[in-house]
Amino acid sequence: MSLNKLQKFEALKTMPNVYENFSFTEPKLIRNNQLDNPRGKWKSQHFGNSNPLVLELACGKGEYAVALGGMFPNKNFIGIDIKGNRIHNGARIALEKNLLNVCFLRTKIELLHEFMDGEEIDEIWITFPDPFPSFSDRGNRLISPKFLDYYKKLLNGKKITFHLKTDNFPLFRYAVGVLDGRGERILRCLENIYGNDKKIDDILKVQTYYERLHAGQGSQIHYVKWEM
Ligand SMILES: C[S@@+](CC[C@H](N)C(=O)[O-])C[C@H]1O[C@@H](n2cnc3c(N)ncnc32)[C@H](O)[C@@H]1O
Repeated sequence: MSLNKLQKFEALKTMPNVYENFSFTEPKLIRNNQLDNPRGKWKSQHFGNSNPLVLELACGKGEYAVALGGMFPNKNFIGIDIKGNRIHNGARIALEKNLLNVCFLRTKIELLHEFMDGEEIDEIWITFPDPFPSFSDRGNRLISPKFLDYYKKLLNGKKITFHLKTDNFPLFRYAVGVLDGRGERILRCLENIYGNDKKIDDILKVQTYYERLHAGQGSQIHYVKWEM
């Protein structure tokens, strides 16, 4: 039986793999109806290991966190999104598959510093972020200079690998332009990843809800990987 939005919000409250924040001004994390903020201790406190920690930002239904969690049992994954009903899907599947190395954090990404110490983050995926096409909204793009500065401040000098996958060509071009203009180290840049001549790793073949949606409408998929 599929749940409606309110039922999903209710279910999230008792899912052991979901942490939620409900306030921008007084951020706090709640899991299982209790305050629980593992900031700086995600690996030891939540995952019970010291394996690398990979974030999926704008995870929506968390297809990347879940798929990579299955492919890489020796890494930890946290899917992050503000929309609880979407996160519910990924969290439910992770529980059904007994993926103890996958959990979800419901928050605005702008508040990550409240819940995470940058030094514990080892890799970041940004999957099909909203393109915010209008010029006045460009600061909301998760790849804008404002967000890149935010990630850098959060990481506090630590260099990690970032991945961006998108169906939106203007956003892809914007991202590459911003990264290049800032002198970031671009490691791989693939326009139309499924094009005939391209050899791509299995990790790039994971399809999210938005990828399927846009690919089904004929969009090409693009990818850029960088270190920052
Ligand atoms: C286009 S959807 C992509 C979802 C998923 N990655 C996929 O490919 O199916 C973009 C997601 O980014 C989330 N999002 C956008 N800005 C955000 C922010 N500042 N903080 C948290 N989530 C954000 C939205 O809630 C939405 O679920």
